[in-house]
Amino acid sequence: MSGTPDERLARVLLGWPEEMRVLRRFGLHDGQRLLDLGSGPGVVAAELLRLLPGSTLVAVDSRAEGLPHVWEVPGPGVAHMALLRATVTRLPLRADAFDFALARLVFQYLPRPVEAAREAMRVLCPGGRLAVSDVDRTLSLAVNPALPELEMLMSRYDAWHRDRGGDRGVGARLRDILREAGAGRVETETIRFESRPETAELYLEALMGPRRLRGLREAGYATQAEVDDFLAARAQWLLSPGRAVSRYLRIACGTKER
Ligand SMILES: C[S@@+](CC[C@H](N)C(=O)[O-])C[C@H]1O[C@@H](n2cnc3c(N)ncnc32)[C@H](O)[C@@H]1O
Repeated sequence: MSGTPDERLARVLLGWPEEMRVLRRFGLHDGQRLLDLGSGPGVVAAELLRLLPGSTLVAVDSRAEGLPHVWEVPGPGVAHMALLRATVTRLPLRADAFDFALARLVFQYLPRPVEAAREAMRVLCPGGRLAVSDVDRTLSLAVNPALPELEMLMSRYDAWHRDRGGDRGVGARLRDILREAGAGRVETETIRFESRPETAELYLEALMGPRRLRGLREAGYATQAEVDDFLAARAQWLLSPGRAVSRYLRIACGTKER
């Protein structure tokens, strides 16, 4: 991830207080055994343990570089966290071991998300809950004033994702995915969060930061000229007084039946 730890934290945790409020309503509370599927560098895992200090957490990611680094797991959280390098569709974990599992922004990468949801259900204890949050491309971007260069690159990013077996429209299918995986009592919620003029740059960065731009160019989904056009348009956009970016996140939560 690029940027200082504070910048990375701010970028990953856009809209997080609202998300946390929803997760608590879905049954997340202190003292639970937590599973963070597709944890990435552990920003959310660390945040969960900061807010729920009596919990323990296993963070799972398939990429070694995805797993938490020391700076990202500050304070006492470290002692309560275990890291596991594994794919979410085949967890080397025993059945009935967790109270609450979270899969945040990982289902969009999976060719077979139902398998991942089934596997999460297996390791949850009866009555345990799986919360999946992800983007829904039909909702996920509203930029004012319009920034067509960003919209174009986001479409290229969607195509890149699709070509690797992922789906950035997965947020719209979460209820069906959880039902198909055998979850009972599925609840859903859509969170909308909007930048202020002074945070608009951070929002844009989260959508199309230097790392994503480099990836698109290197994978052949954008030319250098298109990236340059975007950067020039972005610089202009950042000068507009009413600039705002709204983002949406779908969350679905299902219960493992007793
Ligand atoms: C966008 S990041 C999300 C990180 C974190 N959950 C968050 O909300 O900040 C997606 C993560 O999913 C991981 N991932 C993708 N496919 C996976 C799989 N099949 N099994 C485990 N992790 C996977 C990636 O390595 C990456 O770290």
